[in-house]
Amino acid sequence: MKLNKTLTGIATFLLMTQLNAQNKSYLDQSKPLEERISLLLKEMTLEEKVGQMNQYNGFWEVTGPAPKGGTAELKYDHLKKGWVGSMLTVRGVKEVRAVQKIVVEETRLGIPLIIGFDVIHGYKTLSPIPLAEAASWDLEAIKKSAQVAALEASASGINWTFGPNVDVTHEARWGRIMEGAGEDPFLGSKIAKARVQGFQGDTKADLLKTNTIAATAKHFAAYGYAEAGLEYNRVEMGNAELYNMVLPPFKAAKEAGVRSFMNGFNLLNGIPVTGSGFLQRKILKKDWKFDGFVITDYSSIREMIAHGFAKDESDAATKAVVAGADMDMESYIYVAELAKLVREGKVKQELIDDAVTRILRVKFELGLFDDPYKYLDEKREKESIGTKASHEAVLDMARKSIVLLKNDKNLLPLKKSGQKIALIGELAADKNSPLGSWRIASDDNTAVSVLEGLQKYKGNQLTYEKGADVAPGKTTFIDEVKINTADTSEFEAAKTAAKNADVVIIVLGEHGFQSGEGRSRTDLGLPGVQQELLEEVYNVNPNIVLVLNNGRPLAIPWAAENIPAIVEAWQLGTETGNAVAEVLYGDYNPGGKLPVTFPRNVGQLPVYYNHYSTGRYNNTDGLVFWSHYIDSDKTPQFAFGHGLSYTTFEYSDLKIEKPEYQKGDPVKISVKVSNTGNYDGKEIVQLYIHDVTASLARPVKELKGFENVFLRKGETKTVNFVLTDAELGFYTNEAQYLVEPGTFEIFVGGSSDKTLTSQFELK
Ligand code: NOJ
Repeated sequence: MKLNKTLTGIATFLLMTQLNAQNKSYLDQSKPLEERISLLLKEMTLEEKVGQMNQYNGFWEVTGPAPKGGTAELKYDHLKKGWVGSMLTVRGVKEVRAVQKIVVEETRLGIPLIIGFDVIHGYKTLSPIPLAEAASWDLEAIKKSAQVAALEASASGINWTFGPNVDVTHEARWGRIMEGAGEDPFLGSKIAKARVQGFQGDTKADLLKTNTIAATAKHFAAYGYAEAGLEYNRVEMGNAELYNMVLPPFKAAKEAGVRSFMNGFNLLNGIPVTGSGFLQRKILKKDWKFDGFVITDYSSIREMIAHGFAKDESDAATKAVVAGADMDMESYIYVAELAKLVREGKVKQELIDDAVTRILRVKFELGLFDDPYKYLDEKREKESIGTKASHEAVLDMARKSIVLLKNDKNLLPLKKSGQKIALIGELAADKNSPLGSWRIASDDNTAVSVLEGLQKYKGNQLTYEKGADVAPGKTTFIDEVKINTADTSEFEAAKTAAKNADVVIIVLGEHGFQSGEGRSRTDLGLPGVQQELLEEVYNVNPNIVLVLNNGRPLAIPWAAENIPAIVEAWQLGTETGNAVAEVLYGDYNPGGKLPVTFPRNVGQLPVYYNHYSTGRYNNTDGLVFWSHYIDSDKTPQFAFGHGLSYTTFEYSDLKIEKPEYQKGDPVKISVKVSNTGNYDGKEIVQLYIHDVTASLARPVKELKGFENVFLRKGETKTVNFVLTDAELGFYTNEAQYLVEPGTFEIFVGGSSDKTLTSQFELK
């Protein structure tokens, strides 16, 4: 024992002497992390520091011949010089090893790369799109889904994801609504935390493991408010909206320990967020004390020139670095400009040191200096991707993400035998579209289709007809999707199948690549000829279960009015068909709730539940002068929080412990929830507040609590909530957090539009 200790002591001494001799004492693991960072910083030249602030996209098969053409040679050359701190979209152990080897073995200091990737809803085995996951309101399942994604990505050599996307949005037209958690800052904050902890682990120490990856909260900030839902568009908003609606999930991500933030493409009040010192320096780094780093969005430093905010590259570099953007993703601008700017005295050396310190900190935290190849294990890669456990986790997530929007004639759940079922819709047999957008590492056509899922249930007679193409032609991440707007030649066959069936299941909606980046829409109806198909099928057999596939809220007023059963199945990832079939057959009782409002029509946008009252919100005198549309109801088609079950729930006995509270006292609320139907089921019990009078008008409702409750049929449970100052206050335009005395209304129920109500006074 004693001898062992002595030997270990001698070995450590020898290693340290060696490291000191090479000036690599920053590799000494016994030193505190911050000391290791400053030791390394002292060794670095200005160019090497700037190099750490430079990120390049993957560019050639690293394991193939040396690169030629485009920017590949330049990138290769920069890697060898130590002028690259990170690469994105290089994946697979072999490829990552090759690129890591260049910097570790061929550069002077051997600083390892951090390898970034868009792990958005799974890596190879795909979970539902993030918006769909949010419909589960199940934080454990969401965390688990991120864990599976981290496990697979890390096994493939990746150690950093550009997720979660925590952009709150009211814009169904905006394609990237599929990437976030919907419209609510409270739900969004809880989900942000679950996702960050799923990717990274619960504590900083978990980053050292090989199955966790660093996460990124993006896009900082307000990208989700893109004007008119138009991609990359400007955003105008006051501080109160920013602080109350947009920032909470970012703050929650920060508090959960997220190690990086990504800025974005949008202007916020005229300033590109990439060049916003208010966001990055003041709010994030000063007020929130964030000590990780900010990555820019792809070429967003360069785009400041197109915005008319920077006059040239050197101006763009200066503005971005001064504003607090630490790492340049693919603008090629920091690497070209920063060293010169420092030498000319135009950019302070401290800014560079601060940025590099932050980047190195995360690399140290990941353990990359202790072993740059720690994620690179071919055996693990082979054994950890696409396992049974991954499939089970994403299946579980998929079931939980489904929302039953309507079930009027009790068509659902389907009887298990003796029925003739016609399954219609191209998307029903599609194995690619259900994978959704943002799935760069997965293989095409690997989803279980709805058809395949239903075929596993043998008791009924199942006929399949396509009805019509949705998106014929090439459907990829980078190409425009072409929609079939004319070909109805297969309608007749679909109608014949429908006529001969007891129940029609029709799968309609958006192709998986109709949402995501660069996919804004102005029409939120069923794309192409699908609405026509639906109506024609309905005319021959109205016993229809409509299964929706979509990456955003759709406006389907005719279907909502006429179709008896509607199931929101989003794009559910690899296990789509199994999850949908289990829900349709009642082997899983759906319990998801909408994390976004579904409009009746595009003209209502933006429409969201936590809106404000106008001075004339209701029609009190029958005249026209009230806040309404003359051609449409102003209420949503399906409200935020809406979602049915095969059973029914009743709410009773809403109690607030006391009629009055002193500021700071916990407000205790309870409600009884009973399962009054014929199935066991899950209900998401939601608590909303309304601060009736305040120095700044408050939304008519704000979600401030929810509980996921499982009730056997006939069972009643009491659900308790506690409200504290953290839920009762709001930010002013001066970014001051206030909890003001007065009346608070409380709403509890199974949807934002169906609640019991009570109130209390805050003294
Ligand atoms: C641009 C997107 O806006 C961002 O979210 C993504 O992480 C980067 N591209 C990298 O792919």
